[in-house]
Amino acid sequence: MSIQGELAATIEDLIQPGQGILAADESHPTIAKRFTAVGVESSEEKRREYRSLILSAPGLGEFISGVILFEETLGQNSLDDIPIPQLLENQRIVPGIKVDKGKKPLINAPGDEITFGLDGLDDRLEIFKNRGARFAKWRDVFHISDTLPSRQAVEANAEVLARYAALCQSMGIVPIVEPEVLIDGGHSIDRCADVSKTVLREVFIALARHRVQLEHMILKPSMVTPGKESAKATPEEVAEATISVFRQVVPAAVPGINFLSGGQTPEEATLNLNAMNCLGNQPWALSFSYGRALQEPAQKAWAGRLENGPAAQEAILKRARLNGAARAGTYSP
Ligand code: 13P
Repeated sequence: MSIQGELAATIEDLIQPGQGILAADESHPTIAKRFTAVGVESSEEKRREYRSLILSAPGLGEFISGVILFEETLGQNSLDDIPIPQLLENQRIVPGIKVDKGKKPLINAPGDEITFGLDGLDDRLEIFKNRGARFAKWRDVFHISDTLPSRQAVEANAEVLARYAALCQSMGIVPIVEPEVLIDGGHSIDRCADVSKTVLREVFIALARHRVQLEHMILKPSMVTPGKESAKATPEEVAEATISVFRQVVPAAVPGINFLSGGQTPEEATLNLNAMNCLGNQPWALSFSYGRALQEPAQKAWAGRLENGPAAQEAILKRARLNGAARAGTYSP
């Protein structure tokens, strides 16, 4: 298949009615934090057990079109000794891979961060593709304060995101473009709307500069919400603020917007997505690419015990099903 054909086929497989993406790509420190919360010490074997359990939940493919994996998982076998990418393909789920190498302080911009991972990315993408990955993810983060993010951080992060996306597409891998405006802080929903607009505008300028084909990418943004130390907004307020920003800065050629959950509770993330899909037709499919909001209940149910596997599978299947409904705007609590 041609590169263009590969990209188009992957986009079609990922963007399906009633389906979204599962982010199971936590780095070692992040998964250790999640495991500690349920009393489990993180080890390669425990990570394999947990991820193998949730990814083999019977029926997961009905609601999940793609899974973002961490490098370690892409090379692991399931508990039944099936390579994890194969296990996913057997459920008609597209395997994907997180390729950024995390963030560090941006020099000469106190408080801002920049994502690393472009060096050697072409070679790594080739290896990941040979192991079965058909799409990739790169996450930028933007902190909000009265003065952050700086212009310097917005431009530098947009540039690396666009270079990653162009490289992925040149190799037939669909890029998920993730500019996350963090929920941390006591800011208002209006401040989040302003920052989100500035960030997204700059990201699309950089994508155009690097000639990224918008038809062959997925945007993974944060929703427009108040900071987590401020009073919560209703799902209707979140939906209106988010859609109003996105209509101004996200081109209609982008086929899908798959939101991250970014610290919202599982229930909030479902309600907010549902409210967006109740606002009528938009140029893009509006779906989810949740990590915590899909997995938290499953991690609690598992609690490090293999015998809790069926309960963990039931828990993730439930969140996947409810978010599948929210994707259509038909969820009711
Ligand atoms: P959350 O939904 O937990 O924010 O994770 C999504 C993700 O992939 C962040 O990079």
